[in-house]
Amino acid sequence: MQVAACLRCPNVARNRCKYNYFRYLRTIGLSTRSRVVLAKSIVDSRLSAVKIIKCKTQVEKNRVWQTNDLVRIWRSLLSPALQSLQRAFCHAGRLYMFSEFIAGGELSSLHEKFRRFPNHVARFYAAEVAQALGSLHEQDIVYRNMHPDNIMLSSQGHVKLVGFGFAKVLRDTDSTRTICGCHDYLAPEVLISEGTTMASDWWSWGVLIYFMLAGTNPFHEAALDKHGNVIEPLLYQNILRCEVNFPHWLGDQAASLIRALLVRDPASRLGGKTGRDALPLIMAHPWFSDVLWETLRDTKAPYIPPADDTDKNGGSLNKYDESDDEQENEDDER
Ligand SMILES: Nc1ncnc2c1ncn2[C@@H]1O[C@H](COP(=O)(O)OP(=O)(O)OP(=O)(O)O)[C@@H](O)[C@H]1O
Ligand SMILES: [Mg+2]
Repeated sequence: MQVAACLRCPNVARNRCKYNYFRYLRTIGLSTRSRVVLAKSIVDSRLSAVKIIKCKTQVEKNRVWQTNDLVRIWRSLLSPALQSLQRAFCHAGRLYMFSEFIAGGELSSLHEKFRRFPNHVARFYAAEVAQALGSLHEQDIVYRNMHPDNIMLSSQGHVKLVGFGFAKVLRDTDSTRTICGCHDYLAPEVLISEGTTMASDWWSWGVLIYFMLAGTNPFHEAALDKHGNVIEPLLYQNILRCEVNFPHWLGDQAASLIRALLVRDPASRLGGKTGRDALPLIMAHPWFSDVLWETLRDTKAPYIPPADDTDKNGGSLNKYDESDDEQENEDDER
């Protein structure tokens, strides 16, 4: 197959030499859609994370336009809170998408260690994720992929949102109906295909705040089997019923913000039906009264990842199978 032609992507360079500018060290992320590999430039030794997608699979599954969209959207991102795409090219049947290596690891790993974040820690991450979502929405992009695995930390401990595989441009009052994203974080209107908008991202953000503070998903109650696995129909029922228990130690202000977000009808949710104007309302919420929004990214983060984290991610420890086969049974569509 003609590799360069197979994705017909005007945004993808076709310079084969570029492949040889890097040494490909090891897998640092593996999902149903892609493999993420740590790479080192042979020119300046700089580390990159390379998201690799098989072109053939994209063609076979009729996802060429989605992949082109991913490159286009990813390349357009402007905020320091969003992982940026540095270069993309096709080589030997694969699309290689390079971004800066984010050394601090995933928020999910940090959360696993703490189990529950104290209020000030959860507030810091919530605020930085809100800024990241706000800047996506400002560019008319709905994220649709909230999950602590997609929230990474820089070496200074600041948030970098990754995982734009479901991001989509939505103009004005548009919505999109496909169900995608992590099931724990899906808003009711997404579940019943009533239309995803930026308001659905704010719902997911509300779930994230609850999860960071409480250590559990707000809709897991009675939806877990005896091994702790989610029973999906029960989870979805809980989401649609929208009943959430708030442990007293969550604090009144955090609970009031989460209550304003986990509202079944997007029109009554904080930020309103489209969610486009949510950020200023969120910034003004009393839970954030101590947050200096303008200088947030210059302040000291509550947790500075250890300096040897790069080694952990890129060094001898390797938790992923390096064999060639990405899982390819994924069927989420846009
Ligand atoms: N720039 C990066 N630096 C370090 N690790 C990264 C980087 N990008 C991705 N990763 C790791 O790879 C994992 C998967 O990356 P990503 O979320 O982009 O791909 P995906 O899950 O296949 O796609 P998507 O989330 O868009 O559906 C991340 O959760 C993270 O652990
Ligand atoms: Mg991801």
